[in-house]
Formats: sequence, structure tokens, C-alpha cells
Amino acid sequence: MPPIPTAELHLHIEGTLEPDLAFALAERNGVALPYATQEELRAAYSFSDLQDFLNLYYALMTVLRTEDDFADLTDAYLARAREQGVRHAEIFFDPQAHTARGVDIGTVIRGIGRALDAAPRTYGITTRLIMCFLRDESAASALETFEAARPHLDRIAAVGLDSAEVGNPPSKFREVFALAREAGLKCVAHAGEEGPPAYVWEALDVLGVDRIDHGVRCLEDEALVSRLVADRVPLTVCPLSNVRLRVVDRLEDHPLPAMLDAGLLVTVNSDDPAYFGGYLGDNVIAVRDALGLDEATLRTLARNSFQAAFLDEETRAAYL
Ligand code: HPA
Ligand code: ZN
Repeated sequence: MPPIPTAELHLHIEGTLEPDLAFALAERNGVALPYATQEELRAAYSFSDLQDFLNLYYALMTVLRTEDDFADLTDAYLARAREQGVRHAEIFFDPQAHTARGVDIGTVIRGIGRALDAAPRTYGITTRLIMCFLRDESAASALETFEAARPHLDRIAAVGLDSAEVGNPPSKFREVFALAREAGLKCVAHAGEEGPPAYVWEALDVLGVDRIDHGVRCLEDEALVSRLVADRVPLTVCPLSNVRLRVVDRLEDHPLPAMLDAGLLVTVNSDDPAYFGGYLGDNVIAVRDALGLDEATLRTLARNSFQAAFLDEETRAAYL
């Protein structure tokens, strides 16, 4: 069966940096990597938790320096995504991870933007860009980042919240999310990946988010599930990521079927595919096989992805 056309809504562009491109960019930019070979690097892809992954994720992205680097990274993702059924992609980027290294935010946005502009023609993929704030950085840093991005807001559809969750609740970012909403942007936040259901409540009630990224821990709180179902709040679930970051022990134990049974608007996504063992279609096949999902369920997941996407109603209708 060819891949079902799907929208990917939870994808960190920096998490698509494959070892071969990382080594090529390291050489192009004269950046030293602490790994002699691609095999040595791949051997480091065994993570104990989110922070363990983030340490490598931030270390490896130091090879990204120029507009061309960001364009090449994004183009490589789009080429693979197309093969795996993606027809619409809403892509996260982490500006602070680059500005902290002296890379201008305009360089990042123009580079990614160049590849996104070409995507409908080159790959038949429509896109949106989502600017994430690093929640383990300060609220002041997020505000500074938002102001630095103001000249580029025509390219940005939404703001998000990622990086180390526990100890960094959504309420820390109340002010910058209010500014983003005032500017007409949509809002999303990672919540309930490693963090408790209380963080999902905060993302909804304090930040006013339109979607929850991950959210798998919502099942621990019946009232929260009722709220998410009643308001049709989409949850962008990332099965292979959850296994690799030990949010769940085994894919066979993943709560995706329970989430669907509860009536939640769940989508399947790849998160950081270069690190977690697969792109979107690989995630779909993995959950199909591990959880015994039938074709009707897979079609529901694909349909959910377009329902949850930040599309105008005419475009959404064309995809559905
Ligand atoms: N969670 C939080 N932050 C992240 C992730 C994730 O899965 N991937 C990249 N940044
Ligand atoms: Zn993520």
C-alpha cells in the first residue's frame, strides 16, 4: 500500500540533520565534530531520556551556520517527507539554538524559507513555519527572540515551546505567547511528554494553545481528556520518539490506541526523524505493525492530520 497522504505537524527541522549531511556541513564550514565517522556518531544515538537526546541535538546542530546550510537541511527533509506520504508540513525551528552561537535569526529564517518557498513546485508539499522558544532558557530570552523575529513574522504561522520540559512549565512563557496571539499567530506547545498533565492544562489555559505537542501523559487525568475531547484540541503524537526517549518502554505499549478510543484528535508525526529511527511513513508503519492498527484507523489518523493543520478551509477541504 502506498503511503496515505498526510500532514506532518510535529517536526523539528534541526532534528532532520542526518549524519552524512552533518559531516558534509562540518567540512564545508570548518567545524570540528567530536566523532571521527558517521558510524561513531550513530553509535551515540541511544538515549536515556529527553535531556540525553537534547545534548546531542544541540551539539550536532553547530554545523549549521549559513543560509545555504538551513536551505539544504530543509530541502533534504522535504525530499524524504514526500516519499513518505507528507503533503503538508508544519515545521518547527529553534532560533535560540542558533542565535546563541552567533548565527543571525534572519539567516535561519531566510534559509529555511527558501526551501519552503520551492516545496510546492519541487515536491508538491505545502508548508507552515513554527518558531519554538527553548523552555529551559529564560522568559526574557523568549521575548527578545520574538522581537528579533518581528521583521520576519510574515513567514511564521505559529509559535511553539520545546526543549527540557520538567521544571519549565508553560506559564513561564505567558507573556511571549500573549504577544504572539496579539500578532495573529497560532500557538502550540510541547506538554505532557515527560511533564505532568498539569503542564497540558497550563498550555491550554495560560498560553491559549491551538494544539498540544505529544500530550501522551494526558491519559493520567480524566478531566483533562474530557476537556481535550470537548474542545477538539489536536495532539501531535510521535511514537518512535516516545520509544527512543523512553516515554514508553516498547511501541507495543504505546497509548495511541487508548488515545483514539478516548475520542482524542490524535495525529502521528516523526519529531526528530534523523535521531529516532524514522520519518513519518516509518512511524505509521511501525505503529500499524506494533499495535495492529487497521487501514480505517490509519485513514482516520491521516484525516486528523489535515483537520489539525493550520490551513484555510478551502485548502483543508481539498486535502480531506
Ligand atoms: N521534546 C522537546 N524538545 C525537543 C524535542 C522533543 O521531543 N525535539 C526537539 N526538541
Ligand atoms: Zn518535539
